[in-house]
Amino acid sequence: MFNGIKKSAMALTAVMAATLPFAANAADPEAGKQKATTVCAACHGATGKAPIPIYPNLAGQNEAYLVSSMKAYRNKERTGGQAVVMQGQAAALSDEDIANLAAYYSKQTP
Ligand code: HEC
Repeated sequence: MFNGIKKSAMALTAVMAATLPFAANAADPEAGKQKATTVCAACHGATGKAPIPIYPNLAGQNEAYLVSSMKAYRNKERTGGQAVVMQGQAAALSDEDIANLAAYYSKQTP
């Protein structure tokens, strides 16, 4: 019985260790980079320099601004212009994705 308690305590510790970075909401620019290069690069460039002149550059943009703009698209609060294109993209992003992407793009050289 003691053994069982010890085992479940160990399992709990492992789960906590695995989820702690997310619970603490620490943005992970490496995870952001992965998503950026696979999902966002076509329009914003892998390092945040848009290959298409009518799309915005993201490299070196303020992190907090990137977070708030992505959430505004996701909530459909940001409309007009080409916002509908970004609303579709942002709909698929979790808060964690948004934090990671903002951490990544804000660290790129404009
Ligand atoms: C199909 C093309 C496309 C893709 C893919 C795309 N975006 Fe966008 N994004 C746009 C366009 C177009 C705008 C400008 C929308 C507007 O007029 O408000 C924009 C705007 C933004 C803005 C606001 C920039 C500013 O200066 O206000 C952010 C932040 C952003 N995108 C992040 C991302 C991220 C992160 C991804 C990947 C998850 C992504 N986008 C994927 C086309 C795209």
